[in-house]
Amino acid sequence: MKYNPNCKTVLALETSCDESAAAVISKKDGKFVVIASSIASQIEEHANWGGVVPEIASRRHLEKLPFLIQETFEKSGIKLSQIDAIAATVTPGLAGALMVGSITGRTLAALHKLPFMGIHHLEGHLASIHLGEESPKPPYLVLLVSGGHSEIIKVEKEGLYIRLGRSHDDAAGEAFDKVARLLGLRYPGGPAIEEKAKTGDIYRFKFPKGRVSKPDGGFYPYDFSFSGLKTAVMRQVKSFENSSEKLPIEDLAASFEQVVAEVLVERSLKCALDTNIKSLVLVGGVASNTRLRKLLKEKARKHFIDIYLTPTTFCTDNAAMIGAAALIRLELGMSSSSLNLGVSPRWPLEQANLLYNPTPPF
Ligand code: KG4
Ligand code: ZN
Repeated sequence: MKYNPNCKTVLALETSCDESAAAVISKKDGKFVVIASSIASQIEEHANWGGVVPEIASRRHLEKLPFLIQETFEKSGIKLSQIDAIAATVTPGLAGALMVGSITGRTLAALHKLPFMGIHHLEGHLASIHLGEESPKPPYLVLLVSGGHSEIIKVEKEGLYIRLGRSHDDAAGEAFDKVARLLGLRYPGGPAIEEKAKTGDIYRFKFPKGRVSKPDGGFYPYDFSFSGLKTAVMRQVKSFENSSEKLPIEDLAASFEQVVAEVLVERSLKCALDTNIKSLVLVGGVASNTRLRKLLKEKARKHFIDIYLTPTTFCTDNAAMIGAAALIRLELGMSSSSLNLGVSPRWPLEQANLLYNPTPPF
């Protein structure tokens, strides 16, 4: 994609977990244009340990990010002098990993006298929906399902969020990762389970749809709990081991994947119906799951709810979505973050606007 001098263009960096990523993105005629996007995944290395090792993650980001930025500029055909702002994820995530992208971004911004935009990672996932063919118009609901989060968020208007549902224990992606390990599959569990589930029987095992009780009776209608489901899979696996019968990995994977997809779809659609919001958006790493994408579309059609799916290339962590969030913030009039803005492992999405305060929140 060619660089257009009449629109804002940002360089975006993402290093919150196990993907080092850089992108050059701009907005033209109301559409986001990803000029170049590069990702250096560390997944293979972490897979040897069964999950992300924070120390390894930080070191690899340090080693890879400079070359990734260089490669992204080469692919984009534009120069740093044509960039209007530099964005980097600053929260939530692994502190050491976040620090690499943040320091790199702030250094480049200071050296080249450019605004620095500190981005909330979840706001990046939310913005990923605008990288597809069709963008939803607020108000809309978002089902955000990743390795660290499972949330239903109402976007009142761009930059204004209300969380309506959440997980009380594991995130959906975390459940995929943990169940994959139980089944002897490699990290990350989502793609590994999806592959095995293709030839499995979704009806063979009846796993529970975890509910979260309210203290005064009843259940939180839009909340999730995946730890009981994980325990149920573990019990099944143990009983097969004790009987020395061969583990039916495909059927276990398919029955597990189906129940996760059903729970996510049922609760998010209930939320859409109860709040009378007609647009529902699916984002985050787990959003690349084909069964979930299909089920959501199928069920929503019956209720006349419009479904927007993030393109699969932008579901898992990437820098284009961080750049899209930065462009939205620039449009909202937040011209920069303080160069003193640090990083934080946690920060509420609802308070992402404080990342642009002259006195930074962390
Ligand atoms: O959004 P993401 O890249 O990182 C976080 O912000 O957490 O999400 C990673 C998560 C992992 O837990 C991974 O197992 C899951 O997304 N995932 C999937 C699929 N691809 C990735 N889960 C289910 N099906 C998939 N195809
Ligand atoms: Zn993510």
